[in-house]
Amino acid sequence: MDAATAAAQVRINELMTEIDRHDYLYYVLDAPVIGDTEYDKLFRELKDLEKKHPELASPHSPTQKVGGHVVSALNPITHAIRMLSLDNAFNDDEFSRFNAVIVDECAVDDVEYTAEPKYDGLASSIIYVDGILTLGGTRGDGQTGDDITHNVRTIKNLPLRLTGDYPKLLEVRGEIFMPREVFNKINEDQAAVGGKLYANPRNAASGAARQLDSKVAAKRSLAFCAYSLARAEGKQFKTQMEAMLALQSWGIPITKGLKIVKGLQGAKQYWSEVLASRDSLPYEIDGVVFKVNKISQQEEMGFNSTTPRFAIAWKFPAQEESTSLIDVDSQVGRTGAITPVGRLKPVKVGGVTVSNATLHNWLIVESLNLHVGDTVLVRRAGDVIPQIMTADEKARDPAAAKIVRPACCPSCGSPVVMEESTLRCSADFECPAQRQEKIINSVSRKLMNIDGLGESSVAALCDLGILKDLSDVYRLTVDDILKVPGTGAVSSQKLINAIEASKATTLPRLIWSLGIREVGESTSKLLAAKFSTLDALMNATREELLEIEGVGDKTADFVIKALQPGAAIREMALAMIELGVTPEVIQAKGDALAGRTYVITGTLPTMNRDAAVAALEALGAKVSGSVSKKTTAVIAGSDAGGKLAKAGLLGVPVMDEEALKALVGM
Ligand code: IVH
Repeated sequence: MDAATAAAQVRINELMTEIDRHDYLYYVLDAPVIGDTEYDKLFRELKDLEKKHPELASPHSPTQKVGGHVVSALNPITHAIRMLSLDNAFNDDEFSRFNAVIVDECAVDDVEYTAEPKYDGLASSIIYVDGILTLGGTRGDGQTGDDITHNVRTIKNLPLRLTGDYPKLLEVRGEIFMPREVFNKINEDQAAVGGKLYANPRNAASGAARQLDSKVAAKRSLAFCAYSLARAEGKQFKTQMEAMLALQSWGIPITKGLKIVKGLQGAKQYWSEVLASRDSLPYEIDGVVFKVNKISQQEEMGFNSTTPRFAIAWKFPAQEESTSLIDVDSQVGRTGAITPVGRLKPVKVGGVTVSNATLHNWLIVESLNLHVGDTVLVRRAGDVIPQIMTADEKARDPAAAKIVRPACCPSCGSPVVMEESTLRCSADFECPAQRQEKIINSVSRKLMNIDGLGESSVAALCDLGILKDLSDVYRLTVDDILKVPGTGAVSSQKLINAIEASKATTLPRLIWSLGIREVGESTSKLLAAKFSTLDALMNATREELLEIEGVGDKTADFVIKALQPGAAIREMALAMIELGVTPEVIQAKGDALAGRTYVITGTLPTMNRDAAVAALEALGAKVSGSVSKKTTAVIAGSDAGGKLAKAGLLGVPVMDEEALKALVGM
């Protein structure tokens, strides 16, 4: 080896160790010490060196996680220790009964349990020999599974090499799962081409983990968390917790939120807390797993045929249920998109009764080959609208009527056009449904913010022919409003006052409320920041619009078309100004908080949420709706729920209103 090659070898080793360390800090301890840019730099340096000296590239290098290994079929593997399953508890009583048996048999009052979220993915067993990831397998029937080592090696948060005082042979068990974001993206991509949807992240994870080409698996960004230690040669532990912390010290990510709880009370409280945080987690969980912490007591309890007697999964309400499809209706949105909506036999999903569910688009309806009366799988997860994921073709009545896409707009009868995967009404302001939906959207809280002008009032006023577009709202009189069924003099006057109050608005809100295609909240802010006045925006050229980072060809075209002389939206905007709508002149943005992201949750004692958001954004901060590792801090008021709990789980700092005021200098 010449001197240059030797130097490269030294540097490659250094970089591998350094990157492994940062991966550990980031993925396992949730405590990164460097930013993305610095990390990327190290990573690129290593990749470049490996490219220059392929003979020095290690198979355990962190650069190897992009996959590349292809197998012709999955080989079977035999588990040295059988992979068990868990008994379930579906309510308080069932959990209490489980606890009572342990109290009785172990003769202790307050049983000490480890408590942790139950990840919704697939069980996997992973073996490290001499600290090197050697084998990864699925559970299969518990005795024999599939060898998925090539795909397990692409899992970003799972080390290819262990660190610390690891045993010579380690077999760890845990869940391979797919983050929500990846799952949603895969299904969005599928929906865009009318392809088959994955019913849930579990199925998607399972599909990805069984890919023959590990490059495909790598793209699916699978993640892993350990929940048990099967074998650790030469190591002995007194408690489950000790074993888990040992795994963590060797570099293995363990379940987030793992904690010791005491007795029935402690367990119930933990279960409720985790349930409250469920929707804000970046992955899906379907319950909490409790395990007796002391290994001696675990041994006392022993096993049933396929499950331990010392552990239980206390499940959350299911997020998927089957029900029958009554029919599929068409809903015309404010931009003319005609979306299929499934009318369902009411069914409880995740604790809420669902009778309508979206079907994404008509391509999906056609690819599911839906028929009236079909048995469909409905899913309601997080804040996502209930969706119909699959239909049971086998259970279909052969005489059932096939559901077909509408040939014309169900509201105005205009011809429909297919734009990518969206079926659209070819009319615009002439379509009553579009008109009504545009107004409902424009007067909502985040836009013109007209309190008391709800969906049903807008619908009634549209039906009466009083409202045709947003500007008509500013022409409403008490007499007009009194024509809405169920409205009295007091509420009419209140609504007039609210309309009056809404005239003092901001330019981004006004722009957003015009309902220009592709111009939502963030684009409105960009346009307002660039042009400062509505007048200037109306006179903007296509080139000027394209100078804005974040405004592309499509958006620019829609803006130009909407605001050109004679266009309906331009006329409406001018009429609104004429009727007294006055956007305040916006202040230039500071950048003291640039690059930071905050999440506001709960009710702040004195500030309203909009004011808090405005104060942060004015200093260049981003305000997000969900907590992640990248969140700078969570600002919590009273009644803060899941987001606060999640901050706790992820170790994100929490601030109160006082601290916020100090931060923004109020
Ligand atoms: S313990 C000996 N802990 O749930 C029992 N399982 O329904 C081993 N799972 O097959 C399982 N998160 O795939 C355990 N924190 C957790 C879990 C968990 C998810 C899965 C696992 C298991 C299934 C049983």
